[in-house]
Amino acid sequence: MARRSGCASFSSSLAARQGEQARMSSCGETQQHDICKRELSGELRGTSIGMKMRWGSKGLQKEGRCVSVACTPSWRPLKRNSIQTIVTRFAKVAGHPIIWHCLTAIAKVPHIEEVCMIGYYDESVFRDFIKDASKEFPQIKIVYLREYQALGTAGGLYHFRDAILKGKPERFFVLNADVCCSFPLNDMLKLFEDKDAEAVILGTRVSEDAASNFGCIVSDAHTRRVLHYVEKPESHISNLINCGVYLFSTECIFPSIRSAIKKRTDRPRLVSYPSSENLESSYFQDDEETKNEVLRLEQDILSDLADSKQFFVYETKDFWRQIKTAGSAVPANALYLQKALQTGSKELAKPSANILSPVFIHPTAHVDPTAKLGPNVSIGPRVTVGAGVRIKEAIVLEDVEIKHDACILYAIIGWNSRVGAWARVEGTPTPVNSHTTSIVKNGVKVQSITILGKECGVGDEVRVQNCVCLPFKELKRKHGQDAPAGIPNKPAPGVSFFTPAQEPPSGTASDPQPNSRPIPKLFQPLKIRGLTLQNRIMLSPLCQYSAQDGHMTPWHISHLGGIISRGPGLAMVEATAIVPEGRITPQDVGIWSDELVEGEYGLKRIVEFAHSQNQKIGIQIAHAGRKASTVAPWLSMAAVATEDVGGWPENVRGPSSEPYNGDHATPKELSLSDIEELKKAWGEAVKRAVKAGFDVIEIHNAHGYLLHSFVSPVSNKRTDKYGGSFENRVRLTLEIVDVSRQNMPKDMPLFLRLSATDWAEHTGKPSWTVEESAKLAGLLAERGVDLLDVSSGGNSPDQKIKGGPGYQAGFAKTIKKAVGYKLLVSAVGSITTGRQAQAIITGKGEESMGEEELDLIVAGRMFQKNPALVWSWAEDLGVEINVANQIRWGFGGRPGAKK
Ligand SMILES: Cc1cc2nc3c(=O)[nH]c(=O)nc-3n(C[C@H](O)[C@H](O)[C@H](O)COP(=O)(O)O)c2cc1C
Repeated sequence: MARRSGCASFSSSLAARQGEQARMSSCGETQQHDICKRELSGELRGTSIGMKMRWGSKGLQKEGRCVSVACTPSWRPLKRNSIQTIVTRFAKVAGHPIIWHCLTAIAKVPHIEEVCMIGYYDESVFRDFIKDASKEFPQIKIVYLREYQALGTAGGLYHFRDAILKGKPERFFVLNADVCCSFPLNDMLKLFEDKDAEAVILGTRVSEDAASNFGCIVSDAHTRRVLHYVEKPESHISNLINCGVYLFSTECIFPSIRSAIKKRTDRPRLVSYPSSENLESSYFQDDEETKNEVLRLEQDILSDLADSKQFFVYETKDFWRQIKTAGSAVPANALYLQKALQTGSKELAKPSANILSPVFIHPTAHVDPTAKLGPNVSIGPRVTVGAGVRIKEAIVLEDVEIKHDACILYAIIGWNSRVGAWARVEGTPTPVNSHTTSIVKNGVKVQSITILGKECGVGDEVRVQNCVCLPFKELKRKHGQDAPAGIPNKPAPGVSFFTPAQEPPSGTASDPQPNSRPIPKLFQPLKIRGLTLQNRIMLSPLCQYSAQDGHMTPWHISHLGGIISRGPGLAMVEATAIVPEGRITPQDVGIWSDELVEGEYGLKRIVEFAHSQNQKIGIQIAHAGRKASTVAPWLSMAAVATEDVGGWPENVRGPSSEPYNGDHATPKELSLSDIEELKKAWGEAVKRAVKAGFDVIEIHNAHGYLLHSFVSPVSNKRTDKYGGSFENRVRLTLEIVDVSRQNMPKDMPLFLRLSATDWAEHTGKPSWTVEESAKLAGLLAERGVDLLDVSSGGNSPDQKIKGGPGYQAGFAKTIKKAVGYKLLVSAVGSITTGRQAQAIITGKGEESMGEEELDLIVAGRMFQKNPALVWSWAEDLGVEINVANQIRWGFGGRPGAKK
């Protein structure tokens, strides 16, 4: 499930193991404030009060059936003295403690009788909250079940199963309370009944790059059945994530937990938890580590449920957000206030010229009528707000004094704090759909929400920006406003020449965008194995036919350098030949010797340049096959490069001895031992590319060159194990994938460019088709290819290409549809504007070429025409991006400012 909840149990045990102190959340006012005071004053330091709570209720009678509901809000014990803990736990959002919002949702489910809160703190901590909540929700019995050891959500449910199963309920809810959402419990219940389900999970969609921070759900779009569940996957599998709210049938969940326990106990030393009676006592071990072994719902149970049970997902389109850090209380406050506004809550302040709804003001607070508040502001009890004060998107806790003309924006002001006249306490907005509470500012990660701990003092006219201030701090100086004595022009690290550091790299979208505009998918980062691209635009490999004996020249550095410094997420170096006879022309770049890597204009040089700009660079490794030994295309589109101009027409090699057409050299068929030699040469080339420092390797399997000519029946006439059937024709490609992977680090991405079709179906003769491409794609994914770069054509002289804008994107989408999350897929070909690129990658809009979403957009010629294509596309989409320092300042921009 969500990272928060996944961490919940884990952190609990970790905290307990380390003897860390943890803190609790909001509840009954007096008691809670008392605890909070003790925490803030450090009184509780060193004592272990790690806290986790679960709720359960039972006895829901519906249509004559007995249904039980248990709800589980879990709190992570955070670090000792962590200000985040204090504020998150105690802040009242929209006028109420965060867990009150969960309880309100539970109360709307008909017939709920009991809620069990399961926690780690002393009973006294919750006494007042339970008393207050019991008055407010008299129909529900609220009980507190205390854990004496962190057990994990599943472990805790199992430990307290007798309490939960009292009254023989058939099903129960589990809620993690450190999320902010509308908790559509009745909708989940309906789905549960409609599907005769054993488990229902609440899911929501987030952006692709955020998804892997959570538990990801792959479901059947029609039946809503959960097919696959992975907690924080390493690469993208789905953007439908776990919200931390579940409905389980008792008959399903307890046996599932029991079998997870069994799995553990079957492994020596890995003991589950000592409190379960079902465990063999001989498995118990006394050391600290095993005592704290926890059983987590997300990691240990959910994926098994997906495999074997009637497990469904209810997808909420309503708001959902994780309350993970103190700063998350501000967006949570906004969401709950907006909800209160929509439902016409009487608790909100009346809108006026100075109250911009929604605003909550506690009846005991005093707000000067000239102060302007809102939207999304909560003012706590006994707060004083002076004349001319401006407060927006903020939480002001009890007993705070804000003097005249002060400004509070995107901030939390802790209890008893004082803010001086004309002072500014401000954070930076995060996008509404963002799940992070930090932002990148001037290349540095900072808090988006400014937080003052308890009893902080901010002097008159002092500005506090994007920071967290510990309790009792007096802020008198103008923080962050004084320039240091000397300002160094910081060099890029680890580079053999001086060049200014580019942080973040050019092409990175500002996060958040001005006015919190969402970042279009095209400008969202893409993580592939150990590599993260700052946007989803790749420079296509472009042969320059300008190399000298395989060596790059200043032309390459200049051509690639100008594009790379302007920030495509990845730049792919042109087709680079593994052997001299594998070049298309005598002026192609090669990688057949170490000299070509290390020499004056060796490949290392362009890699170092890219890395000096904080950019990523890949290399396309190639063999031209039967299309080798031609001349540069501007001289002739077909003429053979004869020996007198450096060609090798007598040593052109192919799958068979059939030439591409009458103008090309006649190839010699590669023998089986030649193929073995070729694979060796390929492996050596990959090793060199890795040594040169490239970030990505792409296998060239397109455009009629060697590997494409093997997979296609147009050019492959062999009768041995490399010809004939589909399996035989793709054998060499798969072997080359294996050879490549064997010689690459595990976290290095491998791409493969393929021609999706020969465009030769009209001939009525066998040719390579999109269907075969999709079939091959599945095999490539299994062998460790990460991204399929989908191009087309180039193998048949009879090809009839149907061009036009984005003409190859449809093929990419057909293949993506077939392989799904197993493989990333890109589109290339006549993609000329940012809007078109965004439409293709999202599958939305007139130019989308189909509804399927893609992962990366690749452009070639447009980059040659305009090396600043990334910038132009950003402008097309109204996205603010960072640009290299040397360029940006001339446009009057600060880092991240729009150019
Ligand atoms: C000058 C030029 C050189 C090219 N060199 C390569 C190459 O080395 N490897 C390759 O796979 N495709 C090569 N291509 C194809 C491009 O990478 C790209 O797929 C094609 O131009 C379509 O994309 P575009 O419309 O964005 O240019 C080349 C195309 C051009 C125009």
